Amino acid sequence: MTGRICGTGSALPHFRVTNDDLSKIMDTSDEWIKSRTGIETRYLATEETTTSLAVEAARQALENAGVEAAELDTIIAATVTPDKLFPTLSCEIQNALGAVNATAFDISAGCSGFLFALNTVQAYIESGCCKKALILGAEVLSKIMDWEDRSTCVLFGDGAGAAVICADETGILKCVQRSDGTKGMALHCYNRPVNNPYKKNPVDLDYTHMNGQEVYKFAVRTVPKTISEILGSVGVTPDEISLFILHQANIRIIESVAKRLNQPMEKFPLNLTECGNISAASVPTLLDKVNRRGLIKKGDKIVLAGFGAGLTWGAAVLTW
Ligand code: COA
Repeated sequence: MTGRICGTGSALPHFRVTNDDLSKIMDTSDEWIKSRTGIETRYLATEETTTSLAVEAARQALENAGVEAAELDTIIAATVTPDKLFPTLSCEIQNALGAVNATAFDISAGCSGFLFALNTVQAYIESGCCKKALILGAEVLSKIMDWEDRSTCVLFGDGAGAAVICADETGILKCVQRSDGTKGMALHCYNRPVNNPYKKNPVDLDYTHMNGQEVYKFAVRTVPKTISEILGSVGVTPDEISLFILHQANIRIIESVAKRLNQPMEKFPLNLTECGNISAASVPTLLDKVNRRGLIKKGDKIVLAGFGAGLTWGAAVLTW
């Protein structure tokens, strides 16, 4: 048995912010953001929360799969911006959906989170302890941005994506997940500091810090190598892949991956232009977009790949 993606869903906040809108509140421009990243707009939560976006994406994915919440045995949400430290986002989703038979837990792997959730579910399915799972990537990154740091805050957006994974005869051919903690400080955000009666610290909350060039170099080196390795391990060539659904951080990273794999950009759908980088939600929201537009046909082979904080990265090759 393997895992098959049998339904997808996504949700974005209603409030859309253009590059020009940002240029009114900070020293930036549409020209700078678009030429450096490809991003034109992003959606930022004003009324929504990580949980409300995730629940909406989950409901859509269940409907798309024709699966009832009570049929789920596993729920895994990937997020670095849950509304609460506990209960987990997954348990909140379980409660909202009435998924009474599921075991729910979160994964924190930055922008690779959805791939890590997929890999985990795949291992559960292969071991026989899971038949129907819901996996999600959901983020409200705008709450951990320093809105005075133009080099980071213009890149990110909010949103959620979900997929239902069913045990089946065909589907995922191979998944990999990797990490390199030695480069962790390239993209980091501190949690609350130690603060108790014996050790006092100011309780100022930290925001996202990024060494953009280091992350860029890591992505363009690691992503094509990982995709080539995973394809080689299952005897599939890049030419046989219909679509490469990559984490949406920067169009120049995606163009570089396309070039290194010797594949046309038409095979690399985008939602970063509209949504910016939504971390763990990038891959599933884009997957939902191409699925709903009928751009993937049964039997097509597709690649999913993510990379980000940790540093972490992961990829999957599957038959639709
Ligand atoms: N608007 C205008 N100018 C900006 C700006 C903004 N929003 N942000 C930074 N700048 C300025 C800098 O201050 C710098 O000015 P200086 O030369 O006078 O010091 C200049 O633009 C160039 O900055 P630099 O950091 O060298 O730009 P870059 O070409 O490396 O592009 C990124 C920056 C962040 C777009 C790029 O490094 C990147 O995409 N990295 C990957 C990040 C990523 O994908 N992170 C998420 C991974 S999950």
